[in-house]
Amino acid sequence: MPFNSKNKNCEKIVEEDNKVIASFSRMPYYPLVIKKAYKSTVEDMDGNKFIDFLSSAGTLNTGHCHPKVVQSIIEQTKQFILYTPAYMYHKPLVDLAQKLIEITPGNFPKKVSFGLSGSDANDGAIKLARAYTGRSKIISFIRSYHGSTYGAITLSGISLDMSRKIGPLLPEIYHMPFPDIYRNPLGGAPKDAGKNCLDYLKYAFANFLPPDEVAAVIIEPIQGDAGIVVPPKDYMQQLFALCKENGILFVSEEVQQGMGRTGKWFGIEHFNIKPDMIIMAKALASGMPLSALIGRKEIMESLDAPAHLFTTAGNPVCCAAALATIKVIEEEKLMKNAEKLNEIAFKRFTSMKKRFPFIGEIRGLGLSIGVDLVKDELTKERNKEAAAKICYCAWKKGLLLSFFSNSVLRIQPPLVITEEEFNKGIDIIEECMSDFKKGLISDDILKVTKGW
Ligand SMILES: Cc1ncc(COP(=O)(O)O)c(C=O)c1O
Repeated sequence: MPFNSKNKNCEKIVEEDNKVIASFSRMPYYPLVIKKAYKSTVEDMDGNKFIDFLSSAGTLNTGHCHPKVVQSIIEQTKQFILYTPAYMYHKPLVDLAQKLIEITPGNFPKKVSFGLSGSDANDGAIKLARAYTGRSKIISFIRSYHGSTYGAITLSGISLDMSRKIGPLLPEIYHMPFPDIYRNPLGGAPKDAGKNCLDYLKYAFANFLPPDEVAAVIIEPIQGDAGIVVPPKDYMQQLFALCKENGILFVSEEVQQGMGRTGKWFGIEHFNIKPDMIIMAKALASGMPLSALIGRKEIMESLDAPAHLFTTAGNPVCCAAALATIKVIEEEKLMKNAEKLNEIAFKRFTSMKKRFPFIGEIRGLGLSIGVDLVKDELTKERNKEAAAKICYCAWKKGLLLSFFSNSVLRIQPPLVITEEEFNKGIDIIEECMSDFKKGLISDDILKVTKGW
C-alpha cells in the first residue's frame, strides 16, 4: 500500500477542521481524513489505503460497511427513521431487546433500556443502582474510562484533563485500585496485585466505606483505555462474591470489550460471572449510535418515567443495524476468528520481544490486545516516544494504529479481518519497531502525535 506523500487533500481538511472544531474532543495521532472504508480497509482523501487496527475505537466489530448492516439500515430508513420510543412502540426495539436478553449471561428475567452512547448507559447504571438498592455509594476503579457525561466522567479515573475545571462531579463515587498484574498499583509483587487490591477494598470497607451503603461496583472486565489490563480470574470472582455477601450490585461495563471483541459475546464471560447489569455501546450497532443497559428485571423496574430516556435513543434504524450486527457476528463466526488471531498475535509479538527489548508485555483476549512499550524492562517505565513514533510510522506504511495510556499499542482490528491482512498489519508494526530501534523515525512527529 504505497503512501501518497503529497497528502494534500487530507492536510487541507485538517487545516479547516482546526479552525472550526473544538479541540477538547480529539486526541490527534496523524492527519488522516477518511473518504471511505470497507471490511478492514480505510481509504483517505488522497487515495491512500490502510489496514485498520483501531476499528474506530473498537466500534466496527463487523468491519466497515458490512453489506448486511448497510442493507438493514437502508431497509429500515425507507420505512421510518424515528418515532421516539419515549411515546410509541416499534418492532426492531422489541426484537433487539429480546435478542440481547438471550445473548447476555444470566438465565434470569431481564429488561433493557436503550441510549445513544456508552457514557449515557453508565449514567443509567448509576441511577438504577441507587434507585434499586436505596444506597448512594458507587465503587469504580482507578484508570478506568467510562465516558464524558458527568456520571461517566465521575466514574472514570484515568485523566486529570477529563475532570479539571468542570467540578463538582457526582458525589459518593469511590475509586479502588484495579489489579494490574504487570504494574501492581499498590507496589507489591506483580503476581500479588489481585490479592493486594482485594485487601485494599476490604480495608476501605472496614474504615471509611460501609459496604451496606454501597449500591454497585461498576467494572470493565478488561480495562480498555488503561492499556488492555486483564484482571486475574480469582480477583474478579472474589470481588463478585464480596458484592453478593454485601448486597452490592455487580455491573459489567462492556462498552469496549462487548459484542464478541474478546472472543466471547461479553468480556465478563471469561470470568464465569453473571452480572446484575451489563452496559454496552460502541460495536452494538456497528457504528450507529446506540447503547444498551441490560439488567435483572427487578432492578430495571426500580425507576419511574421519565428518569432515563433520550428522544432519539433506540431508534429503529440503529436497532435494525444492531440486529444485523448480532446476526453477522453469529453467522460469520467472528468470535472464533478473534480467538484464532489472538494466538497469532501473541506468537508474533512474543518472538519480536527478543529483538525489541522495548516490548514490555503483550496482553489481552480475542482481538483486544495491548503491546506495552517500556523504556526499561525492569522499571517498566512507559515509553511514549516509542509508541508515538511506531504509530506514526505505521500510518506512513499503511496501517492505522494507535496507542493508549502513553505506551500501549492498541490492537483492536475489526473481527472480520482475515489472517492475511492481520499478519500484514503485524508485519508493518515489526518494520516500524525496527525503524524505531535504528533511530530512523524523526522526533518531529512528536509534535503531531499526541495520543492518549
Ligand atoms: C470502556 C468504555 N466505556 C465507556 C466509553 C464511552 O463510550 P462513548 O464514547 O460511546 O460515550 C468508552 C469509550 O471509549 C469506553 O471505552
